[in-house]
Amino acid sequence: MTANPQASTFAHALDFSGKTVLVTGGGVGIGRAIAEAFASAGAQVVIAEIDPARADQAEAAMPGARVIRCDVRQRGVGAMLAERIAAETGKLDVLVNNVGHFVHARPFAMLEDEEADDILDTNLGQLLRMTRAMIPLLRKAGPGANIINVTSIEAHRGIPYCSVYAAAKWAVTGFTKSLALELGPEGIRVNTIAPETTDTPQVALDFMIPRENRAHEERWIPLGRFGQPSDCAGAALYLASPLAAWVTGTALNVDGGALAAGGWYRTPQGEWTNVPLISGNGLVIPGTAA
Ligand SMILES: NC(=O)c1ccc[n+]([C@@H]2O[C@H](COP(=O)([O-])OP(=O)(O)OC[C@H]3O[C@@H](n4cnc5c(N)ncnc54)[C@H](O)[C@@H]3O)[C@@H](O)[C@H]2O)c1
Repeated sequence: MTANPQASTFAHALDFSGKTVLVTGGGVGIGRAIAEAFASAGAQVVIAEIDPARADQAEAAMPGARVIRCDVRQRGVGAMLAERIAAETGKLDVLVNNVGHFVHARPFAMLEDEEADDILDTNLGQLLRMTRAMIPLLRKAGPGANIINVTSIEAHRGIPYCSVYAAAKWAVTGFTKSLALELGPEGIRVNTIAPETTDTPQVALDFMIPRENRAHEERWIPLGRFGQPSDCAGAALYLASPLAAWVTGTALNVDGGALAAGGWYRTPQGEWTNVPLISGNGLVIPGTAA
């Protein structure tokens, strides 16, 4: 018998046996890492994945997972998934709305209406529809059920050439806070994970940042590196667990301190500057050799 009843709760907090978890876009990247983490923690994992090859790979990596090949942007897909989950487990403990993409990176003035609609639906519309479709199943799971929306550091700052993406991610933040209030009295929690640049097929670091520039990583990010999908997976397990029992309507900034830095960088000497300069061959920090 422990003197502190919470201690025993904490010891088993990351055991998700008997829980059902739906991850949208769980084929690769952040969604895949989150799905694998929940599967390793004992959950029955359901993945909604559009890409057949990625679906196959996820299935091979997680034999116990149910991988459903679908496009979450299509109307009616939420209802289809809800029916499948209801038939198999009767409830949903955790909904991870992970699908999202900048889709078009272009100055706002050059964006066609249809392209803007596409970005909004990929990052906001489908997430709203999926969430509404899953609420009855989350209610069946009861208090302790929760929703995790993957947003971005761009839900908390601006990003040039991806303004509609940023608008959608900020909107998800507002939605998350509001829904947290609506569902709070039922004990259903709603939070976001807001990552900075994380090495995934969508944001493949070797493609985005030339190898020779990766040496600057430790100065760009306070914790000295860009993200790995497992960083978000850890955050998702925490948010879905009893460890976060009193956490709702908030964002977990999984960003190595980037949002806190807000434009501050370290010099090679370990000092800080918010006025980095650009030279012909890249970023130069005042007071340092180019
Ligand atoms: N990687 C980053 O640096 C980064 C940074 C900030 C935010 N995010 C956010 O994290 C989330 C995941 O990003 P990622 O980098 O892992 O993405 P990713 O593109 O590497 O992986 C997304 C997965 O979702 C699947 N998918 C895409 N559209 C789908 C659809 N309509 N229906 C079903 N499945 C679909 C893809 O096939 C893929 O398996 C997104 O919401 C993204 O905006 C990522």
